Amino acid sequence: MIKKCLFPVAGYGTRFLPATKAMPKEMLPILDKPLVQYAVEEAVEAGMTDIGFVTGRGKRAIEDHFDVSYELEHQIAGTGKEKALEGIRQLIEQCTFSYTRQIEMGGLGDAILKGRALVGDEPFGVVLADDLCFGNGAGVLLQMARLYRQFRCSIVAIEEVPKSETRSYGVIAGEALSDRLYRVTDMVEKPAPEDAPSNFAIVGRYILTPDIFQILERTPVGKNGELQITDALREQAREGCVIAYRFDGRRIDCGSVPGFVEATNYCYERFFPKEG
Ligand code: G1P
Repeated sequence: MIKKCLFPVAGYGTRFLPATKAMPKEMLPILDKPLVQYAVEEAVEAGMTDIGFVTGRGKRAIEDHFDVSYELEHQIAGTGKEKALEGIRQLIEQCTFSYTRQIEMGGLGDAILKGRALVGDEPFGVVLADDLCFGNGAGVLLQMARLYRQFRCSIVAIEEVPKSETRSYGVIAGEALSDRLYRVTDMVEKPAPEDAPSNFAIVGRYILTPDIFQILERTPVGKNGELQITDALREQAREGCVIAYRFDGRRIDCGSVPGFVEATNYCYERFFPKEG
């Protein structure tokens, strides 16, 4: 039912310099696949095949990844190496890809607002590719899309984090509806531990209703002088229209070296099972 998914990919990836000096951080590979491909695969699993990138300077490799490479394909035609491109070829066939540029970095809220031209007036997914997510059974975005059908309001994925880490996340306050579901009553962007309303942190998966765009337009810049999606969602939450979902699965922050190593090891164990 939700067809569109936005991928904000304009960020500089400063936590990963110098690797990300000339290469988009979303193209960093976990094993043999770039982060952004895992992210698009998750969206497609959730039925979202209209893929919209909010991109920026130096990110051309992402566009090239989701396109055919005639020379390369000609070179390997008829060899065993063709198999390695099967997954990405299928994605390219299943999806449409649109791009718009975020000219200046203005925060996640600003990136999403720039994506309005690609989304229009429909509910849509948002995936931050450096949060690599693996669902138990269904993928995390598919789990959320199913909840959207039930609640018809914005949904944010949450995870419990140690209180000492709240400064890295949007943090929610909410009333429990069931074991994994909360109706959000408040949310704060990157609070100090003593100011955090809970230890439920928002991770990089959202389903947003399109009224978020009007709200973003009138939301003042917030934490770190940036337009924060958390602040716009807080306004929806006041109307009772944001559900937080403690998803069933595993999230690894691949935007830092320790997380990247953890994800590599995790995927190696999971996707390259040892013989014997
Ligand atoms: C963004 C959001 C934050 C959220 C996080 C999830 O922060 O602003 O609320 O918790 O993504 O990854 P960023 O990590 O882009 O600084």
